[in-house]
Order: sequence, then C-alpha cells, then structure tokens
Amino acid sequence: MKLWGGRFTKETDDLVHAFNASLAFDQRLYHYDIMGSIVHVEMLVKQGILEAEEGDIIKKGLETIEKEIEQGILSFDSTYEDIHSFVEGNLIAKIGPVGGKLHTGRSRNDQVALDIRLYLRDEIRNIQELLLYFMQDLLGLAEKYKDVYLPGYTHLQRAQVITLAHHLLAYYFKLKRDYERLTDNLKRVNVLPLGAGALAGTSYPLDREYVAERLAFDAVSENSLDAVSDRDFILEFHSIAATIIMHLSSFSEELILWSSNEFDFIELDDAYSTGSSIMPQKKNPDIAELVRGKTGRIYGNMLQLFTTLKGLPLAYNKDMQEDKEGLFDTIDTLKAILQIYPEMLKTMKVKKEKMYQACQKGFLNATDLADYLSKKGLPFRKAHEIVGQAVLYCLENQLELEELDYKQYQELFPGQKELFTADLNKYLAIKYTVENRKLTGGTAPEETERIIGKENKWLEDTLA
Ligand code: ARG
Repeated sequence: MKLWGGRFTKETDDLVHAFNASLAFDQRLYHYDIMGSIVHVEMLVKQGILEAEEGDIIKKGLETIEKEIEQGILSFDSTYEDIHSFVEGNLIAKIGPVGGKLHTGRSRNDQVALDIRLYLRDEIRNIQELLLYFMQDLLGLAEKYKDVYLPGYTHLQRAQVITLAHHLLAYYFKLKRDYERLTDNLKRVNVLPLGAGALAGTSYPLDREYVAERLAFDAVSENSLDAVSDRDFILEFHSIAATIIMHLSSFSEELILWSSNEFDFIELDDAYSTGSSIMPQKKNPDIAELVRGKTGRIYGNMLQLFTTLKGLPLAYNKDMQEDKEGLFDTIDTLKAILQIYPEMLKTMKVKKEKMYQACQKGFLNATDLADYLSKKGLPFRKAHEIVGQAVLYCLENQLELEELDYKQYQELFPGQKELFTADLNKYLAIKYTVENRKLTGGTAPEETERIIGKENKWLEDTLA
C-alpha cells in the first residue's frame, strides 16, 4: 500500500520498490513513529483541527498497532515502503478512512526527522549509561592496581615507571570526555522538527511548543527548510562514536601487545579469547582485536554519511534515507563493545611480577637521575648530558643506573663530584620514582587515591 498513488498511472516495478524501500531497516523506529503520531493527533484535537472523537479513534488504532507489532501479530510486510507508510496504512486498514486524517499538517519529511531524533536521543542516553558503568569499573580496577608498577612508554620504548592504576585512569578520562561530548550532542539532537511539514511549514495552526513539551524536547526548530534537511546531529554523533572506538582501539592494541609472549604482562580470560584451529598452544586476544577492527566500520559509517550529505540541495532528498543503516550499525556495535569491554578488563589476569621486571631494565629512572642532579643546581640540560653518558657507560658494561653507587659516579664524573652523595640510590629506586610524582595528575599512588575519590563522587552524582 502506498501513500502517494494518486498521480501515478503505473505500478512501481518490483525491483524499484525494493530498492526504494526502507522498511527493512527503519522498522526499528516503529515505537518512535507511533509515539510521535499519538502526540501529533492529540495536538490536532487540542487545536480544533480534528474532532475529539476522531482523535480517540486514531489514538486507539495507533496503540493497537504498537501492541500488535510487539506481540508479533503484525509483521513488517515488505509491500510497504517505509515505517511511516506501514503504520499509516495499517491504521487505515484497521479504523477506516478516519485514519487518513492522521497525516494532517504533517509530511514524512518532518516525521522521519522526528523519529530519528527520538531514537537517537534514547540511544545516546543508553550509550552514556554504558560509558558511566565502564568508567566505574575502571575506577575499581585503578583502586585494585594502585601499587602495580609497569613501564610507561613513549614511541613504544620504555620511558618511566608508572602504575597500572595511572594507566587505566588515562582511559577513564578519555571516556569521561566522550561522555561529555554526548551530553553536548544531545542539546542539538533534542530539538523538535515536526511542524516543518514537507519543507515550508504548514498553514494549519499547529501548536509546536505543545508537541515539544509532550515529547520532552528542549527546543523547537526555527527554520522549516533546515529542520527537514538537518542531519548534522547524526554526523556529530558519528564523530563521537568514532572517538570512543578510537580510544578503545588504542586500549585494545595495548591489551594485544601485553598479552603477547614478548610483553607477557597480562592474560585475558578464556571467556574473552579464542583458540587456533591448527596451533593447539594458541590463545588469541580476538575480542580486543575485533574492537580494533570494528573501528574501521565505525569510521566508515561516519564517512559514508558525510559523503551522502555533501552537495545536497535544500531541502529533503531521498539520499537522506541513507542516514539510517550506518547509524544503527554504529549504535549496535558500540553498545555491544561497551558491554563486553569492562568484563574483559575485570577478568584479565595481571602479571605484576612481569610488569615489575620490565621496570628494572631500560633505564626508566634516567630522568630521575637527571632531576637529582639538577635539583642540586646543575642546569637540567647539563644533567641530561651527564646521565646520557652514564647510560652509555651502563650499556657498555651491562649495568643499570641504580647498580652504580655514588662513589662510582664520582669517579665517572669528577667535574660534578660534589653532586653525587650517599643518598643517591634512594632516588633511583623504582618505588621512589613513582611515589615522588605526586603533583596533580602524577602517577603517585597518593595522587591516584585522590583522583579515584573525586571521580567516584562525580560518578555517583552523575548516575543519581
Ligand atoms: N523513508 C524515508 C527516509 O528514510 C522517509 C521520508 C520519505 N520522504 C519522502 N519525501 N520520500 O528518509
């Protein structure tokens, strides 16, 4: 059944119908479509555009359709073009010609914009909730691993010792910003487009503010052409989703490296790994790899929509039907990942001895030695040079910096003899190098404790 047969003399070709239709995917919007229609009808009655009795019949019909969809009585019959014609067609079939009054003062162009905004608004909130739970788990893990030391890297070269807690908190803050980006995105999603009509508004005296209030929108769109053509809010969401998965892809890369024999820092739980069909010894970090891999598809969905929208003249164009599948795919992918990921982290085994061993090789306290000298008055640049020479000496003699005592340093650097004193080795100990970085945002467990307390409070308030 079609909504627009009047000016046509021929049936649509079957292949064309299938190509043109969106019901196969936009059926997931049925609840929002019906919800928007119910409020639209109530408003039409309130404004005296429809009789109260007509409104009641239409409303009941819509409610029945929703129930029947949910109970599987009504199935999405592919003879309909999209979810809007499906609902309206079934309404008319159920209640007769009065059902034809539902679409008064409305177009599918503002209707589809409404549906997608209602849908995305809910899903953004779902994703935000998953993010908050994930962040809560990260804080719990940070608490657990506050005293676990591992090398921090730059250029994937061992750099300075940090705690695993500090490492996990880095991701906590990345996700917190993602959460906040979504809050900001919501402001632009939560605007009512209904009333824009096909493109120019309508001559019916619709009460858009009433509809906005009933549907809990914060604002009403202020240009009808913009309202039916705007998909920026989806692009914005795509770019946030891309940022989230980019963060998790980096995290995954680390988990993959850490679970390799080469690093051997962690072991992912059996439930989050898979075996090889040929090599019996293998345990592969497939889930982490797949998260990294799915980054491509989430970026792809974003790029697809940017490209689809590029160069579209105002206002609605059928190209815009292509805004949905990528969005649904990104949302499904992200929600699955956000549910799996925290569990993968909570069940992984941390090999703290291996991490500690890695801190003992590679001169991770070289900066601390340079700081030791510069705190005694030597310009840092000069201290850097001396420590560079000390590292070279150690490399040649297969030693670590803390394996030389202050007297040996005095012999190596007679010009700076008075700077090397008996307390030197205390400052080069791993524990000290970590505990001493206690400024705001540093890796010291004392600072980590403060951050965990502060962020737990933020999470509590936000989740409340
Ligand atoms: N299925 C369409 C979409 O998703 C609904 C809007 C159709 N409007 C139109 N004028 N053909 O974009």
